[in-house]
Formats: sequence, structure tokens, C-alpha cells
Amino acid sequence: MTTVITYGTFDLMHRGHVRLLERAKSLGDYLIVGVTSDNFDKERGKINVSQTLLERVENVKSTCLADKIIVEEYEGQKIDDIIKYNVDIFTVGSDWEGKFDYLNEYCKVVYLDRTKGVSSTEIRSDNNALTIGIIGNYNMAVKFARECNFVNGITVSGVYLTDDRNKEMFDNDLIADNLDTLIDKSDAIYISTQPVNHYQEIKLALQRNKHVLCESPITINTEQLNELLDLANRKKLILMDSIKTAHSIAYQRLLLLVKGRTIGDVISIDSVCTSLKSANPISWDSSYDSWGPTALLPIFQIFGTQYEDISIFTKKENGNDSFTKIAFKYHDSVASIKVGNGIKSEGELLISGTKGYAYVPAPWWKAEYFEIRFEDQNENKKYYFKNDGEGIRYEIVAFQDLIKNRTNYYYISRNISKKIVELREKVME
Ligand code: CTP
Repeated sequence: MTTVITYGTFDLMHRGHVRLLERAKSLGDYLIVGVTSDNFDKERGKINVSQTLLERVENVKSTCLADKIIVEEYEGQKIDDIIKYNVDIFTVGSDWEGKFDYLNEYCKVVYLDRTKGVSSTEIRSDNNALTIGIIGNYNMAVKFARECNFVNGITVSGVYLTDDRNKEMFDNDLIADNLDTLIDKSDAIYISTQPVNHYQEIKLALQRNKHVLCESPITINTEQLNELLDLANRKKLILMDSIKTAHSIAYQRLLLLVKGRTIGDVISIDSVCTSLKSANPISWDSSYDSWGPTALLPIFQIFGTQYEDISIFTKKENGNDSFTKIAFKYHDSVASIKVGNGIKSEGELLISGTKGYAYVPAPWWKAEYFEIRFEDQNENKKYYFKNDGEGIRYEIVAFQDLIKNRTNYYYISRNISKKIVELREKVME
């Protein structure tokens, strides 16, 4: 008996997949199909697979070509599988030509011609088509535009730069001369301007029926925020806070571990984010605007927004806060943030619990690594997750999912958006 094995994501099953499986089957007597797990796909950069693992397994099952279906979960698993299932032939489409020659050591490797003119990526792009216009300074715009390339279906419709710095670096066709033009040719707008400008920009976009992803804080006061949320609701448009850290895999996993009580009851959270404005002159003038939303995120996502007491220390320079420290008292826990663009400190996140603590080293907001530590050091665990694009590409996927009605779950809840704005008012008082 000749055993054949092949692997794939098999998202949104198409004729290319079916043809591949038919030919794979005809290479032998028994066909094993490995379907990639969601995690494995994410790790290798496929971040917007549309169907779940179960649905994709069903896709393969429905062809009645596979004698056995397995899940591919880790790098290097192919060698393990070939040995385990006594495989004679490994086969895959010609888009992988040469990539799996190393498996010749274990079995025969056959590359089959890829079917032209169809791919899951194309189908996903058609289903998810969305044009996004970018408003902001050069640095922010470049970063965001680059990340859009990683999300199937997203096209950058144009860029409206808030200052002329490096304008020439953008393709001329992309530069919009005014906001109206940019908004008109976009389905959605990403805003990363100074928070004082957000209200007008968001309102303009919403009035023209465009969805908005805006750097947090969304507005500078609660009244403005409520008005905009109301407008977005009435028009059934998405208005979403942008805090890239919220979407980074390491941060999300950390949150799940803490919520799963790995470190017991959480008693204290200390979150520090600083960067010197002198080193980055185009950053915001206010340290709260630059860092407040990010620093507050773990506190509000773990303890909620209903604290009992709060104390704020702010150092003002030219009317802006160059350093802000906020201490929160909850029913039986405490938290603090320290943010600054006129002071430097260790930008770490520390979450202390009754059984142990979570430690995320600086700069924690883009960390790929954290530790869960216990009294008995032998129980300590280190976690590592690749943080492609600092979370921005995952944030774009989340925004796209909301717009395309695939979910109605805002990862940064409305309560948190509002509290961030409310605290800004207090800090600026
Ligand atoms: N395949 C093929 N012809 C196509 C598309 C895929 O022969 N037009 C093959 C691939 O070479 C692979 C298998 O089908 O051996 C599963 O591929 P998968 O990556 O799931 O499909 P793609 O359409 O290439 O998916 P994506 O666009 O997400 O990369």
C-alpha cells in the first residue's frame, strides 16, 4: 500500500484544492490530509483565514478524497507525521517547489502543478474588500500603510498628511490634498492626528457614512465622544479605538492567563510607558495622549472601569502634562500607571496575584515575551509570541471583521473608551 500525505489551510474550499487532492489521491492508495491549526497559520503569517479549523476540516471531508485527516499544529510536524504514519509520498502544490526537498530524506517528494487563477487569498480579498484612507503624520501613515498590505482585501485609498515632512516619500497618487477628497474615496478612515483634532475629523467621516478607526483617546471630552458614538450608532457605522497593543498576541495571551487565574487573585497592577519627546519630536505634546490609553488598558481590562478612588499627579509643561501618575483603588485591589514624555523610566508591566505574578519587560506594549513567576522558581514559565507589526495588522483585521459584520465584539469596550476620555479630562483640569 502506498501512503500519500499532503498539507494545507483549505480555507474557502475552491477547485484548486479539489484538483490538488484528486491528484494527491491518485499518487497512491491511502491519502492523509493535514489541515493547519489556526494558531499555526497565525504563527506563519496567515492572519486572516476566514474559516475555523473545524470548517476547514469539513471542507476536506466533503471531497471524500481523504482517508484520514490530521491537524498540523507545529513547525517540523511533517517529519514526525511521515515517520508516524509510514508515509511513502509527500506532495504539495508547485507554489512550494523546492521548499520541502529536505523531506526526501524520509520519503518521496512530489510537487503538483498549482491550478491557475484561483486562491483562498483572492477569494478572501474579494469578500473583504475595503479601502482605508489614512490621516496623520508621515511616520504613523507609513507604518499603518505597510501593515495594510498584510491584510487580505485592504487597499489604502490615500493619505492625508498633517504636515509636509517626508511628503515626497509617498507615491504622488496616494497623497490627498484635502480631507474631503480622501474621505470621499474611502470606505473607512484611520486617524492618528493630535487628539484635539479627532472630533472634527471623525464627525466629517461619519457624516459621510465612513467607518472610523481612531487612535485613542478618541476625543478630548466625554460630550464629544457620546455625540460621535451616538452618530455612529444611528448610522450603523463602526467607530473603534486604536490601541495597537490590545491586538498583539503576547498581550492577549497574557490577559487570558491572568483572567484564567494562573497567578491567583490579582491584587495589584503597575503599568509604565514612557518615551522622551526630545527623541521623537512628532509625538504628542501630552504624555497622557501619547501613553495613557496603552498604560490603562491592562488595568481596565482586568479590573474593569469601576474603581472606588483615584489620585492623579501631573507635571505640566507649557500647558501640557509631561508626566502623569495615576493611582487607582478598587474594592480589594490597587493599580497605577506612570506615563511620560518628559521623564524616562523602565517601561514594564507587573501584575501581582495571590499565587504569583506576571512580568512583562520593557517595552511591554510591544513585548513578544513575558514570564509568569512563582515563589518556587521551578514553576516559573516563560512565554514567547511573535509580534508581527506590533499588533497593527491584527487591529486592522479586527476593524475589518466589525465592518463586515463577522463580529460585533469591540475588543476595547465602550466603557473603556469612555473612561479613557473621562480621565483625560481629569488630567488636563
Ligand atoms: N493549491 C493548488 N492550486 C491553487 C491553490 C492551492 O494546487 N490554485 C494547493 C496548494 O499548493 C496546496 C493546497 O492546495 O498544496 C492547499 O493550499 P492552501 O494554501 O490551503 O490554498 P491557497 O488557495 O494557496 O491558500 P492561500 O491563498 O491562503 O495561500
